[in-house]
Amino acid sequence: MHTPLAPHNTLMVGSIELPNRLFAAPMAGVTDRPFRQLCKRLGAGYAVSEMVTSRKDLWHSLKTSRRANHEGEIAPISVQIAGTDAAMMAEAAAYNIERGAQIIDINMGCPAKKVCNKWAGSALMQNEALALEIVEAVVAACAPHNVPVTLKMRTGWSAQNKNAVRIARAAEAAGVAMLTVHGRTREQGYKGHAEYDTIAAVKAAVRVPVVANGDINTPEKALEVLSYTGADAIMVGRAAQGRPWIFGDIAHFLATGTHRAQPLTQQVKQWLLEHLNEHYGLYGEFAGVRTARKHIGWAVRALPGGETFRGHMNTLDNCESQIRAVTDYFDELSLRHDRLPDTAPDLIDEDAQAAHCATN
Ligand SMILES: Cc1cc2nc3c(=O)[nH]c(=O)nc-3n(C[C@H](O)[C@H](O)[C@H](O)COP(=O)(O)O)c2cc1C
Repeated sequence: MHTPLAPHNTLMVGSIELPNRLFAAPMAGVTDRPFRQLCKRLGAGYAVSEMVTSRKDLWHSLKTSRRANHEGEIAPISVQIAGTDAAMMAEAAAYNIERGAQIIDINMGCPAKKVCNKWAGSALMQNEALALEIVEAVVAACAPHNVPVTLKMRTGWSAQNKNAVRIARAAEAAGVAMLTVHGRTREQGYKGHAEYDTIAAVKAAVRVPVVANGDINTPEKALEVLSYTGADAIMVGRAAQGRPWIFGDIAHFLATGTHRAQPLTQQVKQWLLEHLNEHYGLYGEFAGVRTARKHIGWAVRALPGGETFRGHMNTLDNCESQIRAVTDYFDELSLRHDRLPDTAPDLIDEDAQAAHCATN
């Protein structure tokens, strides 16, 4: 099968070469370093960190310092920043570059209330002058370090105000090196479906790489979105939760037109245990066990006995018992299923996700 994009081809973002064109989306509370690392190991060419606030007073909080911890991360390290003040955003960019960021991504894509009330995230799309001021200030702060700046946005503020093309052109003129477009408006939150016409229009309007994002949950959908939009890369968010090997699945399908086999159940167990150990290492036992529950829940949610297991697992409060429960669950499953049962890859609980995003 011929694809509109050779997924194994590298992609340049400014002077930085990405190994392929399958990206993991930034998701606050999800794409921490252990999860990004796992996605990269399993086929993602690029993974953007969860957003870091531009508010200096929060930089030393535990949450932000964890988010800014890139120890051992597979390059390139890309940090997303969010805020409403151009000077503060420029400072945030410089701060993260000092801590290892090789690419700075500006968040104009997240509809989180906490962010939007302060006119950050996708709310910035309603104020194009401010959005551009921020882009210019961040580009100016990054240029001396030769750090490319990228921008993630939605299609617009509302169905009546789809200004992604205008913002994309202005951002490119201001020096942005790559644009990601999630095919929903800010007003939509996570409701309805992503549309790809606006992404195609952005792609046609600029010369920098354009990344298509929104509702990509199967290899077929990845191919469809790439063909339809002509985008240079795709970005997967919710469909990678609990299934981080989806990047490898997509790469295989784009390269061969066939589906590779489901992963071995014992292999999935191994990936999850490795992920948990990294997770505990970053968060410590108390927070680690609790925040790991969602990853485990996503991993088992559509599997036989997954719901019952999830309920039981939520009662466990130390690393050892969590690891043992996960091991037992997958060992038991592997007695009946050598390979992971092929469950429907629905996107996960949109409202809960949106609420989650709003708290981060
Ligand atoms: C839990 C959650 C947290 C998110 N956090 C961010 C974020 O911090 N920054 C951002 O630009 N987008 C964020 N997003 C949006 C995703 O990056 C992505 O654009 C969106 O989920 C659509 O892609 P998908 O359909 O593949 O999930 C978040 C989404 C979810 C579900």
